[in-house]
Amino acid sequence: MLKISDFVYEVGAPHPELLYFDKLVPTTYGTTYNSYLIKGEKTVLIDPVDPGKKEILLQNLQELGITKLDYLICLHAEQDHSGATVDLLKAFPEVKLVGSAKVAELMEHHLHIPRSDFLILCDDEELELGDLTLRFKTIPFAHWPDNTMVYLAEEKMLFSSDLFGSHYAAEDPAQADLAKQKKAAQEYYAEIMMPTRRQVGKYVQWTKDLNPALILPSHGPVWRDPDSILSLYERWTSDAVEPTVVIPYVSMHDSTELMVKHLEQKIKELGLEVATVDLGDSDRDLRVSAGETLYRSVDAAAIVMATPTVLGGPHPNQAYLALLLNAMRVKTKFMGLIGSYGWGTMVEKNMLSLLDKVKAEQLPAVLCLGLPGEEDYIALDRLAEELVNKIKALPAETLLI
Ligand code: FEO
Repeated sequence: MLKISDFVYEVGAPHPELLYFDKLVPTTYGTTYNSYLIKGEKTVLIDPVDPGKKEILLQNLQELGITKLDYLICLHAEQDHSGATVDLLKAFPEVKLVGSAKVAELMEHHLHIPRSDFLILCDDEELELGDLTLRFKTIPFAHWPDNTMVYLAEEKMLFSSDLFGSHYAAEDPAQADLAKQKKAAQEYYAEIMMPTRRQVGKYVQWTKDLNPALILPSHGPVWRDPDSILSLYERWTSDAVEPTVVIPYVSMHDSTELMVKHLEQKIKELGLEVATVDLGDSDRDLRVSAGETLYRSVDAAAIVMATPTVLGGPHPNQAYLALLLNAMRVKTKFMGLIGSYGWGTMVEKNMLSLLDKVKAEQLPAVLCLGLPGEEDYIALDRLAEELVNKIKALPAETLLI
């Protein structure tokens, strides 16, 4: 629990031991399910918590002496925020549910709460709390169709739902480590907000124009300097890229790894930064390696997928990553494919079909039969030169330096 101002408290639950959000997203620093209490003339709760953490929320409300709630505002129907709603309704039967039409619709499906139980508010409509006012702003597809923000005008506080969140359960939320918070925010953006980058970019501009004093997301610490997260989101949601290359790879008998090391070295010699990620590292869960690749791909100019051929197609670890990169619609400008095969391969065709939603220029694949030889290394040199030349030739306004 954290007192944020004379009127506002964070009363949700930390989940520091969580390893994978949605059984998918690696959470290096755990996460939190934030719930905000506004205590003015009216008492309002914004979002309950994940159902597994409802006791913590109820305990926090008890410690603050809350015996009556006027409104429960639901910003998003996904279970990590809405899941404890039924328990809240039991504990506070007098409370009035408030949400957007889409939230009410989805709550009916996910929690079987009739949508007619909701007071529905639209964009720019206000909930009058006597001494305080909450204004609604729907933010569809950041990241579900129902996500909604509310703005507490008198305190200049923006409750931003999943947007601007971070999976980071700080030991002391009042003194969160800003470097960790930013890293966690980029990991979170990569796996949750990146697929809807265009819409998210519009909400970033809207938020900048609003100029809140505090941003209070549904996950992770409050942003006490909103510019610190808004400037990052402006960068991530823009079309501009960093002059860097990411090479996620799998190698079964070292041939593909030899190709990766050669390509990495050559690109570095030509003056660009390269990050390689081993998707076959037996000391790391594949979700962690794939998560690192997504994190590094947020602004990368190019991604070169490196895989041996397995039963005609890519190694399944690389196919898993391709599925994710495709779903996340990375903004990278150039894609490459390299790898070794045993006797025949359909890997290029298979990878292209897995990456059909990535709008990047595809460079010619470099595939080698067995152990790479002199001609294969020459082909890799050509790929490195072409890649670096293309990146360096990008217009200045599309390069992040
Ligand atoms: Fe944090 Fe979309 O739930």
